[in-house]
Amino acid sequence: MKTKGSDKTLVVFGVIIVSLLGFLIWGYSQYTTLDKLQKELILEKKTVEEDLKAKTEENVYIFSKLTAEQQKNLSFENQIKDITSQVGTLDKLSKTDKELLQKYSKVYFLNENYVPESLAPVPNEFIYEKDKQIQIHTKVLSNLTDLLRSAQNNSMDLKIISGFRSFGEQSVLKGAYTVSFGSDANKFSADQGYSEHQLGTTVDFTTASVGATFSGFSKTKEYEWLLQNAYKYGFIISYPEGNAYYQFEPWHFRFVGKQLAERLYVEKQNFYDLDQRKIDAYLINIFD
Ligand code: DAL
Ligand code: ZN
Repeated sequence: MKTKGSDKTLVVFGVIIVSLLGFLIWGYSQYTTLDKLQKELILEKKTVEEDLKAKTEENVYIFSKLTAEQQKNLSFENQIKDITSQVGTLDKLSKTDKELLQKYSKVYFLNENYVPESLAPVPNEFIYEKDKQIQIHTKVLSNLTDLLRSAQNNSMDLKIISGFRSFGEQSVLKGAYTVSFGSDANKFSADQGYSEHQLGTTVDFTTASVGATFSGFSKTKEYEWLLQNAYKYGFIISYPEGNAYYQFEPWHFRFVGKQLAERLYVEKQNFYDLDQRKIDAYLINIFD
């Protein structure tokens, strides 16, 4: 009976050992399976990461290509805009009378057929001799009337005594002056073709008290006002004291556009002393 008992113990012990061994083998096999799975996962993760990296690099490349393409399109658009604006500028320039900013006094010559593109009458209220018709370049008219209204509002008695003069009219005028003054007429009157009055952009001012002889005009408050304000309306004095062309003509003002007139005012320069190439740059904006 004792033997039977120890046999039983042995069997139980054997079963435990076998079970333990089985458990260990199962555990080991689970461990190796998990380890294999983990290695596979790490490998897969690495592959996915490499894939992602390659895709990202590809995307960066595509994006940079796209950006470069967009830059190219942008610069092309800017070029088109530049060309369009240049064409606009050339078109505007081709429609602007290039004679308007030339130096006519004894330098350039307007032929007998030259007339401004359009002329308009100066309103009667501003004309010195009421029954006289005076014309001015149509595009200059509003600048002149603005100037005259502003002068009026500042208690200035400014009137227009001369505006556009055709080649023929200048010829008759110069002829009459020559009869009266001989060669001295050249000091104050241009030959036909050389007068700024033929451009239609030039006027002679006077006041009721000074009248047609212009005598003493340079001493009037109106002249002083013109010197300080005419540029705001695009007008400049053509023949200031000491100019190289004619005697001092404080009454004779020419429209050159607001931008050029302001420059001449600020820099205290005379139109005829400025280089023609510098003057030409203002032609495109003369009526702006
Ligand atoms: N009095 C100016 C010079 C002209 O005749 O145009
Ligand atoms: Zn004049």
